[in-house]
Amino acid sequence: MKICVINGPNINFLGIREPDIYGRETYKSLLEKIKNHCDKNGIDVEFFQSNHEGAMVDKIQDCYGKIDGIVMNPAAYTHTSVALLDAVKAVGIPTVEIHISDVSKREDFRQVSFVRAACVKTIVGHGTDGYLEAIDFLKEYVK
Ligand code: DQA
Repeated sequence: MKICVINGPNINFLGIREPDIYGRETYKSLLEKIKNHCDKNGIDVEFFQSNHEGAMVDKIQDCYGKIDGIVMNPAAYTHTSVALLDAVKAVGIPTVEIHISDVSKREDFRQVSFVRAACVKTIVGHGTDGYLEAIDFLKEYVK
């Protein structure tokens, strides 16, 4: 099984950006944590992060025919992007939407998620462990 973990804008600044909201764990240590979890579970994983919406659409399209499941934190594009919604629908790959913070308890503009309609599950507010939960979910889902 092969999974692609896609992170959107500013996730590369984890550990630096708003640590009271996103914690002190760095992006690099997040990737190590996910890689260890995947190794233990016999899952191949690849990572992609971009601050650019179109680059994320390109990556989702690139997963077509190669990837069994996508874990995506679209970050701010969650709340604005029809293009990401359409891309996930287009490739038809089971995708889990994940947010480190509990977006349901934050600003009104974070209550909208365009991509959610195309996702098989959404995980919010479990910190970076949410990525591991998303992977565990996909492992069962694609069986
Ligand atoms: C986020 C929540 C989004 O609202 C925000 O724009 C982010 C991170 C999260 O992981 O909690 O950049 O997706």
